[in-house]
Amino acid sequence: MTQERVTVKTFQEMKIRHETITMLTAYDYPTARLVDANGVDGILVGDSVGNVVLGYDSTLPVTMDEMIHHVRAVARGTARALVVADMPFMSYQVSVEEAVRSAGRFLKEAGAQAVKLEGGANFAPTVKAIVRAGIPVMGHIGLTPQSVNQLGGYKVQGKDLETATRLVHDAKAIEKAGAFAIVLECVPRELAEIITQSLTIPTIGIGAGAACDGQILVIHDLLGVSEKGTPKFVKCYAELHQIITDAIGAFVHEVRAGKFPGREHSFTIPPETLGIVREIMAGADVEKDRERYREV
Ligand code: KIV
Repeated sequence: MTQERVTVKTFQEMKIRHETITMLTAYDYPTARLVDANGVDGILVGDSVGNVVLGYDSTLPVTMDEMIHHVRAVARGTARALVVADMPFMSYQVSVEEAVRSAGRFLKEAGAQAVKLEGGANFAPTVKAIVRAGIPVMGHIGLTPQSVNQLGGYKVQGKDLETATRLVHDAKAIEKAGAFAIVLECVPRELAEIITQSLTIPTIGIGAGAACDGQILVIHDLLGVSEKGTPKFVKCYAELHQIITDAIGAFVHEVRAGKFPGREHSFTIPPETLGIVREIMAGADVEKDRERYREV
């Protein structure tokens, strides 16, 4: 694994060399440091921050300012991985001009190296304009959570002939518009394979099978942070929910039982100083006996 900064060019070279690209989401500095230090090629500061970290019930309420705040923290914690900032709902849909301005903020104010946006052929002109401004764009098709109200829920996309062919068309349009990679979310694995083979840019799958050029997961899912369970396509590599629950429970128990903090968790002052503090508390006049106190 190279220690050099991963760029969009690296992604392209990895596809050509058939090296699988790894990506994870991160939303804060310590997580970004861990993800970066452990060899992940790209970090997406996803608008999933809305559900995962901010307690919203979808990604729709997430704002540009919230995203900028999180992207900054992640960028500060990343030395190697490519940092991709997710464009939140309504930051690029209203006009191409606004889309370019929003994308620019992520590079100029937050330290991202690329942006991601959801949408197929309809958003090709937007992708094209952002790329023309010198900003690398990652596409995102299939299950696009910002369109949950239009899709009628969080469902697998591309299972019938019409939607499958539309997804192939969307992928090609986004590639033609200049995207450097494309996320395929919740797409049947056979279709993801066809799309992957028909594109020259890498596909990054989430719930799209093993044939994609890369894989991405939401870090909180991978770590098993939530007690609510995870979607079918997630593999939990840890059960942090249980570990955190046990640790908090132990803290509460020990504090109540007087077991924490122990002497080893506290500080002390020299006995002479302590003696004087006690004298003062007992009414000694510091001003009158200034010389004696100064010696200590
Ligand atoms: O916001 C996000 O985390 C994403 C990934 C699921 C690809 O878009």
